[in-house]
Amino acid sequence: MAKPQVRYVCQSCGSIQSKWMGQCPDCQGWNTLEQEASQAATPFANKHNLRGGGRRIELASLSSEIEPAPRRPTGMTEFDRVLGGGLVPGCAVLIGGDPGIGKSTILLQAAARIADNGGSVVYISGEEAVDQVRLRADRLGVAQSPVQLGAGTAVRDILTTLESQPAPTLLVIDSIQTLYSDQLEAAPGTVSQVRAASHELIRYAKTSGASLVLVGHVTKDGQIAGPRVLEHMVDTVLYFEGERSHAFRILRAVKNRFGGTDEIGVFEMQEKGLAEVTNPSALFLTDRDRPVAGSVVFAGVEGTRPVLVEMQALVVRVPSGATPRRAVVGWDSSRLSMVLAVLEARCGLAFSGHEVYLNVAGGLRIGEPAADMAVAAALVSALLDRPMPNDLVAYGEIALSGEIRPVSQSAARLKEAAKLGFTRAFVPPRGNSGREIATVEFPTLAALVDHLTDGL
Ligand code: TYD
Ligand code: MG
Repeated sequence: MAKPQVRYVCQSCGSIQSKWMGQCPDCQGWNTLEQEASQAATPFANKHNLRGGGRRIELASLSSEIEPAPRRPTGMTEFDRVLGGGLVPGCAVLIGGDPGIGKSTILLQAAARIADNGGSVVYISGEEAVDQVRLRADRLGVAQSPVQLGAGTAVRDILTTLESQPAPTLLVIDSIQTLYSDQLEAAPGTVSQVRAASHELIRYAKTSGASLVLVGHVTKDGQIAGPRVLEHMVDTVLYFEGERSHAFRILRAVKNRFGGTDEIGVFEMQEKGLAEVTNPSALFLTDRDRPVAGSVVFAGVEGTRPVLVEMQALVVRVPSGATPRRAVVGWDSSRLSMVLAVLEARCGLAFSGHEVYLNVAGGLRIGEPAADMAVAAALVSALLDRPMPNDLVAYGEIALSGEIRPVSQSAARLKEAAKLGFTRAFVPPRGNSGREIATVEFPTLAALVDHLTDGL
């Protein structure tokens, strides 16, 4: 028998090395390699080729006579929207997010909803004791829902339990990092364990038709532990995000084999659990009675839904010689550097002697380049210390040449702005002119800056 080999597995990206190193050569993470015994050599490893001796796989045509199994809505509209209409039988979903963001809460609420509507749900908690989960259920007012609750961390025990009864509609595992397979020596939470445990559970889901939801913890740098390993194995990856200091929570799909990846679900964390927010715009706009310099409303789109959010900029002069700070919350910091560079190079506005802070109100994260124009307007307004009118929205992408580029879904953006009482919009050229709202088209960023410096 071959003697078991020692290998070193990166706990961040899953790459395997034959010797220990301080830095992972693949993902460049420091101190991420950990020693693990490799899996026992299979009889195949000793054979020279794999031809012959296998089982024949039945090859079929692409068309199918079988109707696709219907989706199972959770009953939480915002959750279903992100899933692409509901859970697919046999699917594996991974929900990642910072500790304390509300993963267990949303899943317990969804589990209770499904159970109340006649589905069968098994909820396995590896982190909390049964009584702790019951306390949460009590707080959420779902203690009477027929959810089957269990505490356990051994995959073998979980599978034995599941196989002793009919497959549930939904199986929740909270969390995947607490599970261990006794076939491996590695500690729970290591890449090998996470991979082995997920593999077994996903196989159970695929063969039984149960929809599987795994909770995954996020590491300090914002990725699910063993990220690439897990994300490849599951059908759908969702992130639950939000600022702890705010009540808003966003559920976002980053991978979905059964739906789009651009939809978001918006929730508000309340005393009795997560409430769905069907009109997010009203939520992300702060009290706007008094115009403030540096604040501009961006007419954004998340998935198919328009969302208005306030971009806040603060520009502070620093003594000459000091390196000015740039800090961003809720937007891409390299995108901010780009907008600042274009303002400087194409419009003659100097920010180099100023600290610049940019904040997206309400704890939302914006990924759209369409926010460029609103950010630029907020920066100029902050630099000049001149408030923008508070009945104004803006959107448009800025090119390095200083041109303002059209963006998609302008009709939806304008319609939402009009609905919320805005009367003016700064838009890219050839944009839809809104019927309910007055639009001002700017072909270049310089034209926008001229307009702002001339007075409004
Ligand atoms: P939890 O679901 O335990 O987070 P996770 O599973 O992602 O670690 O949520 C914990 C936080 O949510 C905690 O700070 C308390 C808060 N919370 C409420 O505000 N209201 C509630 O009804 C519940 C259940 C939790
Ligand atoms: Mg939890």
